[in-house]
Amino acid sequence: MTEHTPTTHLFSGATVDHYAAVVTATLGTLADRVRVIRRPRSGVPQHDLEELVGSVDLDAPLGDTFSAIKETSRLYLEHAVWFHEAGYVAHLNCPVAIPALAADLLASAVNTSVDTYDQSTTATLMERRLVAWTAGRAGLGPAADGVFTSGGTQSNLQALLLARDETLTRLPSPLPAGARLRILASGQSHFSVSKSARLLGLGADAVVLVPTDADHRMDPAALREAAAGVRAAGDVVMAVVATAGTTDLGRIDPLAAVADVCAEHGAWLHVDAAYGGALLVSRRRRHLLDGIERADSVTVDFHKGFFQPVACSAVLVRDGATLRHVTHHAAYLNPRGERAPNQVDRSLQTTRRFDALKLWVTLRAMGADAIGDAFDTCLDLATQVHADLGADPRFEVHSAPTLSTVLFRYRPVGPDGRLDPAAADRLVAGIRERLFEEGEAIVARTVVDGRPWLKFTLLNPGSTRADVRTVVDLVREAGDDLLGIPATPVRAREEVLA
Ligand SMILES: Cc1ncc(COP(=O)(O)O)c(C=O)c1O
Repeated sequence: MTEHTPTTHLFSGATVDHYAAVVTATLGTLADRVRVIRRPRSGVPQHDLEELVGSVDLDAPLGDTFSAIKETSRLYLEHAVWFHEAGYVAHLNCPVAIPALAADLLASAVNTSVDTYDQSTTATLMERRLVAWTAGRAGLGPAADGVFTSGGTQSNLQALLLARDETLTRLPSPLPAGARLRILASGQSHFSVSKSARLLGLGADAVVLVPTDADHRMDPAALREAAAGVRAAGDVVMAVVATAGTTDLGRIDPLAAVADVCAEHGAWLHVDAAYGGALLVSRRRRHLLDGIERADSVTVDFHKGFFQPVACSAVLVRDGATLRHVTHHAAYLNPRGERAPNQVDRSLQTTRRFDALKLWVTLRAMGADAIGDAFDTCLDLATQVHADLGADPRFEVHSAPTLSTVLFRYRPVGPDGRLDPAAADRLVAGIRERLFEEGEAIVARTVVDGRPWLKFTLLNPGSTRADVRTVVDLVREAGDDLLGIPATPVRAREEVLA
């Protein structure tokens, strides 16, 4: 029997052996790189990287995949930002679960598109099982449904689109002239909420910011007052967005109390659990999401606390019928009356990757408890790091973490041996830039309560307290250096302050 030869252009003339050899060699290149990485990025300046990338003549192909992968290793792998390195503590990115990586390879190789059943068969059924599984974990009830999306931004957009159309459908009479649809969210909500409002044609001012309590969580009394204010102005409360895991502080709005206010006003409750959604599989902290079961829609980003490669997110809805607001029947694709489970009927996208496969394989290989334990490990580490920074007089820390972010500022010891609090704000941007330039560690910065803060987002279950301490030392050295304070060996400084 002759060997079957794939016939697409990319494989023309290639055997299955060649196909396997390319994939194996690529994995070898990847493993070789992973073996030698010791820092989150190379530290090569942007200008040099621009020259490096610019030097490639895209109209002069190398002629074979092995050479192209070798070149790619030089351009991309050598200078990538590696989230699995302990020195990476910046944004909401995670190292990836190995089963997920293996699954992503399969999804790309098969090139499934989960828009219609006739392009995907079991892939659609597997995605639908995972939607039901996640909705079940959230307790959304028997009519729940949803779809995988490209990320929290898209999930939030789709949820608010459904909220808008459902609100308009449910109004007893057409929206009176001049009346506006309003979204209520706290100032800590993700910017994709106001961006969605603009994209949905609601206007930049459609989001009414609800005051938070002292702990930066939405204040239910203030929400009640804001909702009443919207109605008194002749406008309509279209949706309330509660955040379960704010980007900067990881705070979880009081979901049950917010749900009560939504019920009073007949408003759609969207819970943005892009970050905190991984608590759904936590054995120790699931209770932090109590009340999520009352949401009309929920965003969960698997590419954050579930350790999945980008992209992997879902938007879930309590009532699957509301997904009809994004349904369009095309004769060539999903004609009206077709009984197949076509996910395009539920999605903003048409062609769509089988991103659910990686979560599926991760669950089958490791199980939900292992994912939840890994997330809990990150949250425990954040608590320890917060305590460590809090115990060091040269650092000012923000409040104790709810999830895995820690906000802090370096207050250096000046040449006179005194703490220099005034330098702290000025140093935030400089320290972040300095570390990024050098590549040993990458931290984030943000502004909370009107002041700049350095931010650790700890989403690496393999990182230890000692790893983070090393980053803290680098922060300290960068700060001192920026102020022209001579470098002091860390040990000596510890003794001075003891
Ligand atoms: C609370 C929250 N919602 C939504 C998003 C947007 O998610 P994505 O970057 O996957 O679009 C983020 C991103 O950090 C987030 O923290």
